[in-house]
Amino acid sequence: MPDFKNILWSALIAGTALGSLALAPAALAQSSAPVQPAPSTRPEGVEAELARGAYLATAADCVACHTMPGGKPFAGGLKIATPMGNVVSTNITPDPVHGIGSYTEAEFENAVRHGVRKDGAHLYPVMPYVSYAGMTDQDVKALYEWFMHSVKPVPQDTEKTRLAFPASMRSAMVAWNFMARKEQPETGDSSTYDTVRRGQYLANALGHCGTCHTPRNALMSEKHDQYLAGASLGSWYAPNITSSKTGGIGNWSGDDLVTYLRTGRIKSRAQAAGPMAEVVEHSTSHLTDADLHALATFIKQVAPIEDKLDHTPRDAVGKAADVPDIRTRGPQRIDDLTEMDGPRLYDANCAACHGQDGAGVQDHYVPSLFANSTVGAGRPDNLVMTILKGVDRTASGAHAFMPGFDGQSDVQRLSDTEIARLVNYVTATFGTGDHHVTPEQVNTLRKAAH
Ligand code: HEC
Ligand code: HEC
Ligand code: HEC
Repeated sequence: MPDFKNILWSALIAGTALGSLALAPAALAQSSAPVQPAPSTRPEGVEAELARGAYLATAADCVACHTMPGGKPFAGGLKIATPMGNVVSTNITPDPVHGIGSYTEAEFENAVRHGVRKDGAHLYPVMPYVSYAGMTDQDVKALYEWFMHSVKPVPQDTEKTRLAFPASMRSAMVAWNFMARKEQPETGDSSTYDTVRRGQYLANALGHCGTCHTPRNALMSEKHDQYLAGASLGSWYAPNITSSKTGGIGNWSGDDLVTYLRTGRIKSRAQAAGPMAEVVEHSTSHLTDADLHALATFIKQVAPIEDKLDHTPRDAVGKAADVPDIRTRGPQRIDDLTEMDGPRLYDANCAACHGQDGAGVQDHYVPSLFANSTVGAGRPDNLVMTILKGVDRTASGAHAFMPGFDGQSDVQRLSDTEIARLVNYVTATFGTGDHHVTPEQVNTLRKAAH
């Protein structure tokens, strides 16, 4: 059926250069914490299964996509940007009319592992069933029980997904499913797997790290020979996390990775902002120590893939700058902010927290800008996005906050030109100095983030 395949092809790649699935960070932002099963008088075996289901829902981060900013957990309505338009997540609370209350266990399994809705229609692959296909039968059952018995039903409709023709034909997904490589279902009791197998299960079947960190081909399927090699999400860039010592995280210890996934930060290496802050906040910071170690052990042994742009370890670039106090350099033209140069923009907007020399503060609550994987990266995307969106992450009892400068909060709005100047100054002073970001590039990222 060559014609059909062509239609599908053009539908899937329409509007995107590389066919990467643009999961807008705003789309993944600000969902509420997962619901814990309410205490009850149920028999112990049932309680244990519900607790298992709750833990699996957290590890698989169902709440991230199925909750709107400020909305009720799992009631859906979040718009997720794709090259074909926004796909709206559905209500998966057990409400029989608006949610999945009428789903049988087999129907639930069909949706979660095979991307087929109760009415037989195909789900768009934004719902990561390609990853969840790897879940064991036992775990799908525990998830089902938990959703049916512990999640609060929310009688509320979500907006319908309306994609442009021909992607509007859900039947096109039949062909996509035929070509996409899904995870194979795992067998047995996943809680008894050895460390590496458990880590692989957490990374692939549940945590779907590859959904963001693996680049996609023109049909939007993950490229399996580029597993975790890094991919653009349209605005943020999910970096290479293979064991390459230059392009990836090969020089991180297993404990570094555990600390990052639990707290979202490691001193003098990296901090998690944007979609990764969400992953840490809602999912990985709630995993047990044993599971975090399993995940780190598995990720650490993923084969290295070098990176075209990250040719020096991005977290080992730069040193404290020897910056003379800018205010001694003569009068500043505050009457014309657009004329401020890089050093002045840095002084006015960043130095109060990150320090004149970029060293941050002693306890590293505000990180240094050298030895910082965002500043040292070969791609400026995440530095631009951090300046636009800031950082707002609560994990393991600590809140990390940096204001965004996109003008949406009450701090000063920086223009595209100002941000381009700042990025070029910050990377020249504390990073590789490779970047020559233009205001147009900043504008593209600013737009993609909305
Ligand atoms: C990366 C985002 C994302 C994550 C994570 C996610 N989903 Fe979804 N899910 C979606 C979207 C979007 C849809 C609607 C897709 C469509 O309309 O084609 C959906 C649809 C569904 C449906 C079909 C409901 C219906 O009748 O429309 C079920 C069931 C479901 N998800 C369950 C889950 C469970 C359980 C988890 C966690 C194990 C989960 N989802 C995690 C994005 C996500
Ligand atoms: C929703 C998309 C998404 C998912 C899912 C995701 N990540 Fe990330 N990840 C990102 C983005 C974006 C960044 C960059 C964040 C930043 O610079 O602040 C990142 C950064 C990282 C980093 C830091 C890399 C560096 O050099 O700073 C590590 C390590 C990481 N992710 C591991 C994981 C693991 C392990 C999983 C699966 C459990 C995972 N990620 C799932 C989007 C994602
Ligand atoms: C109010 C204090 C404050 C201001 C002002 C501020 N920052 Fe930050 N910055 C922080 C904090 C806090 C973090 C996050 C620490 C964490 O994630 O644990 C951070 C994180 C960062 C990161 C790492 C983000 C990541 O994803 O890896 C970069 C890069 C950065 N800031 C650059 C800047 C630049 C450039 C400016 C000026 C435009 C600026 N900051 C202004 C406090 C601030």
